[in-house]
Amino acid sequence: MIFMKDIIIAIDGYSSCGKSTFAKAIAEKLGYTFIDTGAMYRAVTLYALRHQLIRADGSVDEKGLTAALPSISIRLLRSAQSGGNSVFLNGEDVSEEIRLAGVSDSVSRVSELAPVREHLVAQQRAMGQRRAVVMDGRDIGTVVFPHAELKIFMTASPEVRAQRRYRELRAKGVETSLQEVESNIRQRDAIDENRAVSPLRKANDAVLLDNSCMSVEEQMAWVMKLITSTQS
Ligand code: DC
Repeated sequence: MIFMKDIIIAIDGYSSCGKSTFAKAIAEKLGYTFIDTGAMYRAVTLYALRHQLIRADGSVDEKGLTAALPSISIRLLRSAQSGGNSVFLNGEDVSEEIRLAGVSDSVSRVSELAPVREHLVAQQRAMGQRRAVVMDGRDIGTVVFPHAELKIFMTASPEVRAQRRYRELRAKGVETSLQEVESNIRQRDAIDENRAVSPLRKANDAVLLDNSCMSVEEQMAWVMKLITSTQS
């Protein structure tokens, strides 16, 4: 076996780019831990919804949520089934619930709050302390691990991402139109790019991956070369 030094791989980028699929496949290949940081923001959002900390107009009770942060425990475990993360909120498996529309609709409002980000970033740094992790999110290469050995910034055209997301939703039986999905993606891009705290940005030293026209196999071949180059 070739000796490999354990590194941190940061994967950031736009929503519906296939970040999680890609990050999961890399972790699987290297025997690394995969960490889906979006799931952590989703779990906090679920807590806020359950505790009436999100108002009818969609705004968040920032004071209430900040006070509650110490009593929100989030654990990510490797799911044997999918290779992804099972997500536990105060001991309860909420992996399915955090993907529902209610959470998706509110998560960007929760993830723009500085106290929430500080709380989760501290946990993410602790999770990466022993290295050998592939972490996917929006601010991993810029804020969480600015010294990660390999940073990848993923993108694909909004049209391609909308097509992919539309197919996923239809497969799940969700009634929607391609136009609606595309406008939702463009809206989410704008929120992610324009928030005051940790906006979505490509780190200067991140490698850009536009996977509009690439298969997962092509992306894997591309990234394995990059990983090898971090070993010299
Ligand atoms: O990757 P996702 O769609 O599950 O992320 C859910 C939300 O959390 C999305 O609105 C962006 C936000 N997020 C973030 O602000 N920072 C991260 N590191 C990960 C996700």
